Amino acid sequence: MPDDILICAADAIVDGGKGVRFALTAGGEDATGFVVRHGGKAFAYLNRCAHVPIELDWNEGDFFESSKLYLMCSTHGAIYVPETGQCAGGPCRGGRLRPIAVVERDQNIYWQPDDYVRPARA
Ligand code: FES
Repeated sequence: MPDDILICAADAIVDGGKGVRFALTAGGEDATGFVVRHGGKAFAYLNRCAHVPIELDWNEGDFFESSKLYLMCSTHGAIYVPETGQCAGGPCRGGRLRPIAVVERDQNIYWQPDDYVRPARA
């Protein structure tokens, strides 16, 4: 797939462990995405809280809260379901993270740009 963009090696993310950030543009603005592993599968989202549009990870790559069941925004504690990005509690109520399509292939993880999330500026 010519549009796929390499994020990292598949074994760089483990269930409930640190996520990997990657640069992109969202609606034409510089932003980051992140990928985490949950239940053996990779899930990626735009790194932008549904409460206030800022990045979720205070410490780089820390997206899971302590139970490892939810993704959490470090600023005011919004929690999100890892599989869907749906808000599960906190000030993000009714909101959700913007998903980004990812594929795992040949021991690597790639993301796929769409109409909104596009490759980072060169
Ligand atoms: S900015 Fe994420 S919970 Fe407030």
